[in-house]
Amino acid sequence: MLLKKVIETKNLTRIFKNGEIEVQALTNIDLIIYEGEFVAIMGASGSGKSTFLNILGCLDKPSSGDYFLDGVHVNKLSKNQLADIRNQKIGFIFQSYNLLSRTSALENVALPLVYNRTDRFNNPKELAQKALELVGLKDRIHHKTNELSGGQQQRVAIARALVNDPALILSDEATGNLDSKTSIDVADLFVQLNNKGKTIVMITHEPEIAQFAKRMIYLRDGAILTDEIIQNRNTKEKALKDLELTVQPFNK
Ligand SMILES: Nc1ncnc2c1ncn2[C@@H]1O[C@H](COP(=O)(O)OP(=O)(O)O)[C@@H](O)[C@H]1O
Ligand SMILES: [Mg+2]
Repeated sequence: MLLKKVIETKNLTRIFKNGEIEVQALTNIDLIIYEGEFVAIMGASGSGKSTFLNILGCLDKPSSGDYFLDGVHVNKLSKNQLADIRNQKIGFIFQSYNLLSRTSALENVALPLVYNRTDRFNNPKELAQKALELVGLKDRIHHKTNELSGGQQQRVAIARALVNDPALILSDEATGNLDSKTSIDVADLFVQLNNKGKTIVMITHEPEIAQFAKRMIYLRDGAILTDEIIQNRNTKEKALKDLELTVQPFNK
């Protein structure tokens, strides 16, 4: 079977210029990610993780080099075309959930479909409900998001990222604001989505969360230091057990 390339970057470089000061955030990144992969990106603060993910998510453009998303040469697209490709092919999840607070979970999730300029989706509410069921929020769909816990809000954000059935899910520190137990739940949700065929690229600085992925890329100073298959993947059961072992002594 021929594997489909969801992401391909060639010599990807991003330089930020602020007056006299230049920051080389990414240097010559060559990377291929195939359909169905689940990739964790790690690296110290400032190593270029968010810059890279923003380019992959068509929120930013490289200074030089090429990016192909699902076979489309992104460099050549106009601003409007970029917005369209983002709407159609990408689900983005951030550390801050970026939800409308006094609006129901259902409406938050349905919103991207309203902005979608294709007529693929004529039943936004129905699709939003399905996405919320998928992330385990079936009984919370009419709650306003400010009435939900942090973990539930992140689930709403994940449902929103999923609702248009994107080819690619990108997550920048999705568990950064969550407690350990809730972080494990979210990582496990990513595993379930990946098992259903979703391609996922997830930035995290937590090794035990990265370990849920199938492949780990480590960035240093804007370049790929290592790129490896994860041998002993973490599972929810194991992660919860490890958590118990680290927490328990303090409870005694
Ligand atoms: N908009 C920007 N303008 C100038 N420098 C930036 C900008 N965004 C990021 N950088 C710089 O690029 C480097 C990589 O940043 P970033 O991708 O945010 O790293 P990470 O997500 O790994 O912490 C850092 O040195 C950062 O200061
Ligand atoms: Mg970052």
